[in-house]
Amino acid sequence: MLNLYERVLRPLLFSLEAETAHHFIIASLHRASHFNFALRALKQFTPPSKPKTLFGLTFPNPIGLAAGLDKNGIALPAWEALGFGFIEIGTVTAMAQPGNPKPRIFRLLAQQAVINRLGFNNDGADAIAVRLHGLRESGRWPAVPVGINIGKSRTTPLERATDDYLYSFRLLRDFADYITLNVSSPNTPGLRELQEPAALSRLLHAIGSEPEPVAKPLVVKISPDLSPVELESILAACEENGVAGIIATNTTLDHVSIPSELDEQGGLSGAPLREKSSALVRSIAANSKIPVIASGGICDAESAREKFEAGAQLVQLYTGFVYRGPGLLREIMEKL
Ligand SMILES: Cc1cc2nc3c(=O)[nH]c(=O)nc-3n(C[C@H](O)[C@H](O)[C@H](O)COP(=O)(O)O)c2cc1C
Repeated sequence: MLNLYERVLRPLLFSLEAETAHHFIIASLHRASHFNFALRALKQFTPPSKPKTLFGLTFPNPIGLAAGLDKNGIALPAWEALGFGFIEIGTVTAMAQPGNPKPRIFRLLAQQAVINRLGFNNDGADAIAVRLHGLRESGRWPAVPVGINIGKSRTTPLERATDDYLYSFRLLRDFADYITLNVSSPNTPGLRELQEPAALSRLLHAIGSEPEPVAKPLVVKISPDLSPVELESILAACEENGVAGIIATNTTLDHVSIPSELDEQGGLSGAPLREKSSALVRSIAANSKIPVIASGGICDAESAREKFEAGAQLVQLYTGFVYRGPGLLREIMEKL
């Protein structure tokens, strides 16, 4: 049976161009974040609590908001009110950047999928640090863990990637309960090369060597398109460098399930990604003790259960949330 979001709000949103609908929702949640009555209204969606501890953090439930929905961190109180057990903002880059030319988000309704080639459009680490500082001062900082996902600015050459990540890391770490290093977006040329063992070890070592009053858990977000050999060397680099967790996975470049007349360049997410990303979660859990946060194709209770059975400790939603709305959180929590 369709929930209220699917019956009423989704048809309206889907009548708009995808990025316009996205901005409308984010702007609405931004406004709602300022008003207690609006947050109380959103709280009717909050699923039953089922706390979980990981990386020394307490998560009220294991369902998080995946990176990319709130790249600029403008609606944190609203995400908490909707019932997310943790919120990951970003990807944030050192420099503000506009991303790729529009259109750059495409819905594939029959496939319950999205293809995007946004290219890390975001306000940049300086502006986002100021925004997060303001939120903290306002007393509206959410009680759930907040992860900050950082990536490389497009104009920074790959050889200087570490400096770029370090810049954002230094500005944002104080606001984060955990930091995610995104080395797997397909929309920034060369970024995925940072998953190669030598480059990844350099990056992890540089970040891990930063003097910190309180060390924040470091999480690495990986691509679903890795070969078993590539995965093995990534796990080794993560273990050697004390990585706290792995997010599996980002979007895929494998579009075989998409009819050619609907296909677009970019990262594919949603239902067609489900199996591939679950297989990677299974493989990480079988070969490493590093905890996994699963992301990819969770659009109902069954696909969420599949991730936990594959060995995930936590899960994150993006495309499933676009199609199913906040009712998806309750549906998952009630059926798990
Ligand atoms: C429009 C869009 C934008 C995204 N932007 C980011 C991003 O900035 N950083 C990131 O790490 N992942 C990003 N992702 C990937 C999601 O966080 C998620 O890992 C991926 O979509 C798989 O989950 P899903 O099938 O539930 O969508 C984006 C996904 C979509 C659909």
